[in-house]
Amino acid sequence: MKIILLGPPGAGKGTQAKTLSEKLNLKHISTGDILRAAIKNNTPLGIEAKRFVESGGLVPDTLVTKMVAERISQPDVKEGFILDGFPRNIQQAESLDVFLKLQADLAVIYLDSNEKVLIQRLSGRRICQKCQAVFHTQNMPPKKEGICDSCGSALIQRPDDLEETIKNRLLVYKEQTLPLIEYYTARKKLMRVDSDKEPEAVIGEILKILKK
Ligand code: AP5
Repeated sequence: MKIILLGPPGAGKGTQAKTLSEKLNLKHISTGDILRAAIKNNTPLGIEAKRFVESGGLVPDTLVTKMVAERISQPDVKEGFILDGFPRNIQQAESLDVFLKLQADLAVIYLDSNEKVLIQRLSGRRICQKCQAVFHTQNMPPKKEGICDSCGSALIQRPDDLEETIKNRLLVYKEQTLPLIEYYTARKKLMRVDSDKEPEAVIGEILKILKK
């Protein structure tokens, strides 16, 4: 099965994708994680993507689409995957349709969330700079403040989680990504989940929907 997790910044795509990946034994493909790793390693992709990611804009379609096409053509995702962060506009969705040849086993889960909740989640998010594990200062605090539970490295704030950049990301989402709701509704692929609830309630709802 191929699953797309769609939703605004902070809706919990990464959080839910991690659990879903374990429960369904599907690979989690996060375009944000791939881009952040490329930036950290100073690869040619990372050098090009850096200013877009750090300002909260979208990385050009040509770069991201090529990156996703390469990833989803690998043998470990032949049976399925969970896409988190792609597609993010109509052009990317059309490219994905071509790669997937409009396959029937595609489910698009729309994590719907209110803006106040999103801002609270993004401004309190902390990530592990080594293993990328995600925490929240209030909602999901690590056992020891500032330290990753999984690998013991220092937690940092993502540069794009600063207040001004959050505002820009939400604006870019409304202008470019929101039209995908209609795109996938028209194709009868979209299923909405209220992601303002506790993580356990959200995953329960997603699993229920996927079973139908
Ligand atoms: P990306 O990393 O994809 O960022 P995003 O879409 O803005 O999503 P986030 O990672 O911010 O949020 P999330 O929904 O995963 O929430 P999370 O689970 O972490 O992309 C970053 C950048 O890369 C983009 O801005 C762009 O520049 C570029 N990019 C990526 N893909 C691209 C593409 N296709 N085209 C062009 N450019 C692209 O949760 C957030 C916080 O809330 C966490 O602290 C978590 O602990 C907490 N939390 C989660 N769920 C709950 C819950 N249910 N209750 C309470 N707290 C919760």
